Amino acid sequence: MKFLLLLSALGLCWAQYAPNTKPGRTSIVHLFEWRWADIAQECERYLGPKGFGGVQISPPNENVIINNPSRPWWERYQPISYKLCTRSGNEDEFRDMVTRCNNVGVHIYVDAVINHMCGNGVSPGTSSTCGSFFNPGSRDFPSVPFSAWDFNDGKCRTSSGDIENYNDAYQVRDCRLVGLLDLALEKDYVRSKVAEYMNHLIDIGVAGFRIDASKHMWPGDMKAILDKLQPLNTTWFPEGSKPFIYQEVIDLGGEPIKSSDYFDNGRVTEFKYGAKLGTVLRKWHGEKMAYLRNWGEGWGFMPSDRALVFVDNHDNQRGHGAGGSSILTFWDPRLYKMGVAFMLAHPYGFTRVMSSFRWPRYFVNGKDINDWVGPPNTNGVIKEVTINPDTTCGNDWVCEHRWRQIRNMVMFRNVVDGELFTNWWDNGSNQVAFGRGNKGFIIFNNDDWPLSSYLQTGLPAGTYCDVISGDKIGDKCTGIKIYVSADGKAHFSISNNAEDPFIAIHAESKL
Ligand SMILES: *[C@@H]1O[C@H](CO)[C@@H](O)[C@H](O)[C@H]1NC(C)=O
Ligand SMILES: *[C@@H]1O[C@H](CO)[C@@H](O)[C@H](O)[C@H]1NC(C)=O
Repeated sequence: MKFLLLLSALGLCWAQYAPNTKPGRTSIVHLFEWRWADIAQECERYLGPKGFGGVQISPPNENVIINNPSRPWWERYQPISYKLCTRSGNEDEFRDMVTRCNNVGVHIYVDAVINHMCGNGVSPGTSSTCGSFFNPGSRDFPSVPFSAWDFNDGKCRTSSGDIENYNDAYQVRDCRLVGLLDLALEKDYVRSKVAEYMNHLIDIGVAGFRIDASKHMWPGDMKAILDKLQPLNTTWFPEGSKPFIYQEVIDLGGEPIKSSDYFDNGRVTEFKYGAKLGTVLRKWHGEKMAYLRNWGEGWGFMPSDRALVFVDNHDNQRGHGAGGSSILTFWDPRLYKMGVAFMLAHPYGFTRVMSSFRWPRYFVNGKDINDWVGPPNTNGVIKEVTINPDTTCGNDWVCEHRWRQIRNMVMFRNVVDGELFTNWWDNGSNQVAFGRGNKGFIIFNNDDWPLSSYLQTGLPAGTYCDVISGDKIGDKCTGIKIYVSADGKAHFSISNNAEDPFIAIHAESKL
């Protein structure tokens, strides 16, 4: 234990890799497109009490309003200014959210869109979430201000001005990503404007940043911006804390730009993780869970202490970004719960849970033609996240983070934090189990026949409540009970037809 404390204290020296979550809180949740007012309430009524470490929020800065199609979710990835003014709320609401979440031990991580401004082809005007004027044609964003000098038009070498070939690292960094006006981040003026925006958020009390489209920026330009950032607000963070940085780099292999190019700046999103885990759980290409024995670096992933991991994100859950059709989402709830539980039980990486909204998915020739649809709304105004009597969410908010199986695995990860990966078992097929020291044990049956095995759990003797089929409430268990004998062994039986064909027990689910 002392050794582990020492390790986490040393971790502060490289604070941009450290997530800045409170001790004992080990995961964050992406509340995609939620309003600030709803996030503030969710921190207080749910995330704080249930052990979540933080929330990744949608971009808080002013964006273009797109009316054709009508208010797509991706309009928030087209900045107009750095005013804190979006469909999620204004600056006062933003400050209120950050304060209230921090006060219950849940930190805020901002999705920072700093590679570009809005699309080249958008009409000039004031159709923006704060009403700021802009003119993409003349590269004029007076509310920042940015002008024609501040973009990469002179630098890009493709005839269209857009990225045409991902095998050319210069194009990927210097040209426009799908027409989005590419900021000249080698200019000190542009770096300073971006840093000013991020420092404003740091002052308010955020704990870190997801840096959108990092692959499309030179790592050295990013570093120059990060070097301008102030330490975190000492109302909530130790003096000298640096913001947590995780960079969106889609590296599935086979391109010149590598995740490792960005390690000097902070952590990087490991997109291979969800793509491979989906392939294994779907049993595609001969994959089986038994092969997960050396999951992590053994699968060619980046080092664990550089990885930000997730089963799905807001892009690839609707076919955008990377990973393709193997990605597991709430639309396949049975496999999805297994995937998220595997991620949260396994020691690899820093974990992010996805929380989505439902949209009218409609496939034409294998493509979802409604992949653009924005959050639940009334005439463009984002709907409140209502809470049903059974604790699920209404108004088409999916709230995967409130599903018992996922919420309880977030707690499992907190309980087993720092414990070694132990007691692996598999049947050579899709029945696998592993422990985390003497603190937790999980077992899966993804085969087409029942599982019945007597296994070493590593846990002290006692009766444990399975946190997948139920909850420990007081000294009662509403789910399956597991009896661990004095030698640490327990009998498990899991039908292949079970609603959730997996069982998880941990030190705090002991009766
Ligand atoms: C830190 O947050 C507190 C509380 O909101 C605020 O009063 C203070 O001004 C902030 N510090 C800085 C440096 O902005
Ligand atoms: C898998 O598990 C079942 C029951 O646990 C066992 O009977 C079977 O032989 C195992 N191995 C394979 C390759 O299916």
